Amino acid sequence: MIILSVETSCDETSVAITKDGKHVLSNVVLSQIKTHTLYGGVVPEIASREHVEGITLVFDEAIQQANIQKTDIDLVAVTQGPGLIGSLLVGINAAKAFAYAHDIPIIGVHHIVGHIYANAIENALEFPLLALIISGGHTELIVMKNHMHFERLGKTQDDAIGEAYDKVARLLDLGYPGGPKLDEMAQSGEPTISMPTVALDGFNFSYSGLKSHVINRLHNDAQRGEQVDPKALAASFQKAAFDQIFTQTQKAIDYVHPKRLIIAGGVAANQYLRAQMHDVWDLPIDIPKMEYCMDNAAMIGIAAYFQWKANPEGWALDFNGYARMDFLKDAYNKGEEVI
Ligand code: KG4
Ligand code: ZN
Repeated sequence: MIILSVETSCDETSVAITKDGKHVLSNVVLSQIKTHTLYGGVVPEIASREHVEGITLVFDEAIQQANIQKTDIDLVAVTQGPGLIGSLLVGINAAKAFAYAHDIPIIGVHHIVGHIYANAIENALEFPLLALIISGGHTELIVMKNHMHFERLGKTQDDAIGEAYDKVARLLDLGYPGGPKLDEMAQSGEPTISMPTVALDGFNFSYSGLKSHVINRLHNDAQRGEQVDPKALAASFQKAAFDQIFTQTQKAIDYVHPKRLIIAGGVAANQYLRAQMHDVWDLPIDIPKMEYCMDNAAMIGIAAYFQWKANPEGWALDFNGYARMDFLKDAYNKGEEVI
């Protein structure tokens, strides 16, 4: 089964061709990083405009690189949400137009379900599995007992880990995108600065206390005319941010006894995590290749394959995109807004 998938939820315009929920025939990603760097973050209006400018080219490139004909495509899949609404709508409208013009069924896919399924590109998923989702908008622990079956164990009570990275990076003037830059800086620092211990209930997370602590520390130092070593601060923040991830995930592993742990979302690209994870957790771990950690359409195509197998029905062309969406509720598969 050949799927053409589209992802435009934030600042990457991406179209992929995937086969049978496993093989990536092409995965074209047009990044807008250069543009948004000028503003220190993603400017939604500009992101939408750049998606409009790039999308047709990215469609053509993906089909050409996969070396297929348009008539070979069995299904069109597109990120329905969550994300920037203007950006989502560009991808959704382009995908609908393509599906309509070529008379191919279309379905919407949840962005985070895509991040989870990025792990099915290299190895088949084995159930029950525990999914650790760490991204710019999500920090969650999910149990999957089967394909397309999600149960939430815990989630952040305030900010997502990626959001905290971006905020701290901005305060340290590291530029955009903040997460990878802070990660890089932390590599050359020692975690010598004390960070608050966060009291966490159940399998939940919390990042606003850690974020505020770093903000206050920087402000207080500035008022006293002192300057904290930014490398030490980055390393200390990073250690504290992942201590939570390590502890809470271990609790969940002890509770669920999953066959595997899979890691999903942009923060899965973090070098500290990748270096530490096999020492911290004693079970098989899947983590996507770097190119599939970042936003990309291949992961949407892989997720779409399993979603289609669970429910092989094309959606009516009037489905909408949503800035906020919960993938745990039943209505997800019907393409309705659920928040
Ligand atoms: O998964 P993603 O696209 O976000 C959502 O879908 O919500 O990931 C983007 C997030 C950003 O917050 C970015 O700063 C963070 O992932 N990120 C990182 C790294 N690379 C990306 N955070 C820490 N270390 C990294 N190496
Ligand atoms: Zn993402």
